[in-house]
Amino acid sequence: MKKVCVVFGTRPEAIKMAPVVKELERSPWFMPRVVVTAQHREMLDQVLDLFSITPHHDLNIMRSEQTLFDITARALTGLGAVFASESPDAVLVHGDTSTTFAGSLAAYYLQIPVGHIEAGLRTRNKFSPFPEEMNRHLTGVLTDVHLAPTAGARANLLSEGIDPSRIYVTGNTVIDALLDTAARPFQFADPNLTRVDETDCRMLLVTTHRRENLGAPLAGVYRALKRILDRHPNTLVVFPVHKNPAVRRVVEDELGGRERVVLTEPLPYLEFVNLMKRASLVLTDSGGLQEEAPSLGKPVLVLRNTTERPEAVDAGTVRLVGTDEGAVFETADELLSDPVAYRRMAEAVNPYGDGRGARRSVRGLAHYLGLATAPDEFSPDQG
Ligand code: UD1
Ligand code: UDP
Repeated sequence: MKKVCVVFGTRPEAIKMAPVVKELERSPWFMPRVVVTAQHREMLDQVLDLFSITPHHDLNIMRSEQTLFDITARALTGLGAVFASESPDAVLVHGDTSTTFAGSLAAYYLQIPVGHIEAGLRTRNKFSPFPEEMNRHLTGVLTDVHLAPTAGARANLLSEGIDPSRIYVTGNTVIDALLDTAARPFQFADPNLTRVDETDCRMLLVTTHRRENLGAPLAGVYRALKRILDRHPNTLVVFPVHKNPAVRRVVEDELGGRERVVLTEPLPYLEFVNLMKRASLVLTDSGGLQEEAPSLGKPVLVLRNTTERPEAVDAGTVRLVGTDEGAVFETADELLSDPVAYRRMAEAVNPYGDGRGARRSVRGLAHYLGLATAPDEFSPDQG
């Protein structure tokens, strides 16, 4: 059995790595050791609880309003010590956080092979999203085996000169997590959410957190939401607010105490998936939501100027709107006023995965290490 350190630190990495941990545990080839930096604390623990994962190592690095220097330095030093004591046969990192980059760099310094899950996403804009575009690029350079979610991600890696024999197209493991979670029995426990679930109002589900959106861009988005609520009396906003105090300040200033706005703490994934199912429209700057919402048939307005997820834009279920108040208002207003425009976007499509992303990723790593035959290649079902 080969020992694999599985590294993550934030909520979305945990959601997307949980199916991989389970699959490694089931596989005949690997013994996983779960190493969390805990770059997020409460938001990470919510996911660990849901998927019953107990880390073997927890670096507990999070500090309030941490800087990129804080995260990267603490994660690099901590992960280096864990890898040195565990001496794994491989390290698996995920996506594009500072934990991802520090994990791949620490493994490289110890000459341990690196597998990168969700490899190959690119905007080609160094500062958007910031610092994720550079995190994933730098991780790609340090990676030995690239687990690319889509054919488009593979094409990005090939254009950078990566050897095709080191790339596997797996589908995104977020769809594995989503399908597993959406199938679980569920009832809202929070009376505010039960009330939302039972009204006839159309629900706008909102999340925001990107570093490049902090401050004025977020304020513009929230002003647009207020205008939408004024224009459409039969709508309400549900907004689970990210723990970052820099997000919370602006949310409180612009939306605090407002009628038909339900502000909540970050929700456990099971609750959140069920809210997504109930939503009419999703407005977000999140990466993961751009992958999940299309598979539930929910139109997404992306509150960013760039996206590394063009597949859902091409399929018509995601629109890149940015953070300009007028643009956000007009696009949401159009979709709430024009049933034809709405229906065009509310097509259920699955460009990102089919629920077998973790299986292909684990087999891809096994194949790369000479332990198994190659996995089949993910190809999307366009609904
Ligand atoms: C991080 C990742 C980003 C990812 C996002 C997912 C980096 C640089 N950023 O951004 O790529 O898309 O996570 O959400 O890797 N906080 C808490 N409790 C928590 C989590 C966060 O209090 O459970 C607060 C802390 O004050 C922390 C702040 O939020 O300092 C920001 O967290 P941080 O991980 O630095 O940035 P995110 O915006 O969450
Ligand atoms: N999510 C959640 N609870 C919430 C908000 C989001 O479980 O209150 C989930 C969401 O379904 C998605 C992931 O968290 O899977 C997205 O995380 P985030 O937006 O923090 O990060 P990103 O995807 O932008 O990296």
